[in-house]
Amino acid sequence: MHNEKLLVYVQAMSRLLETRPDEPEILAQGGALLATLVASDDWLPALFAVPHPQYYQQYLLYADPLDRFSMVSFVWGPGQKTPVHDHMTWGLIGMLRGQEIETPYHRQSDGSYQPGAHHALVPGQIGFVSPATHDVHEVANAYSDQTSISIHVYGGNIGRIHRHVFDPVTGSTKAFVSGYSLDVVPNLWK
Ligand code: FE2
Repeated sequence: MHNEKLLVYVQAMSRLLETRPDEPEILAQGGALLATLVASDDWLPALFAVPHPQYYQQYLLYADPLDRFSMVSFVWGPGQKTPVHDHMTWGLIGMLRGQEIETPYHRQSDGSYQPGAHHALVPGQIGFVSPATHDVHEVANAYSDQTSISIHVYGGNIGRIHRHVFDPVTGSTKAFVSGYSLDVVPNLWK
């Protein structure tokens, strides 16, 4: 399963992180690279684009051996959405197919979380999260009748990172590790 576009992204991201850039530079340059990748929707293998009738899917596309970054195809079935959650590392979101709605949540002095203004991501657009700025959000498929897919890049192995879901009303947290929907990755080198 050779995939030139994905390989080009992984190589460029590896070269970028090799220079040990600070986070704003990672988000700016890594985001520009991701925008190039999601500018066309002709490279994601069908195996990593399959929705589940009940749960949104997170297919691992690549995991850096030094844990500097990982890539996931996030596949939304109709009407699916995340709980309010954090990431505990920087994250880039590149919209590939369909549309998703992101709502940031902001912690209040009483411990609850209030939603900020939501916004839509359409194919080709890039979003980001970061513990340094805003790390808590809820994301939903904008469509109730079709699949949406975004490509996520995180500053570590997101399938192994301990993070949290929140009850926005009470502010109570629950720890979770997201894992991956399939234990396979594309072969970029064949
Ligand atoms: Fe998220």
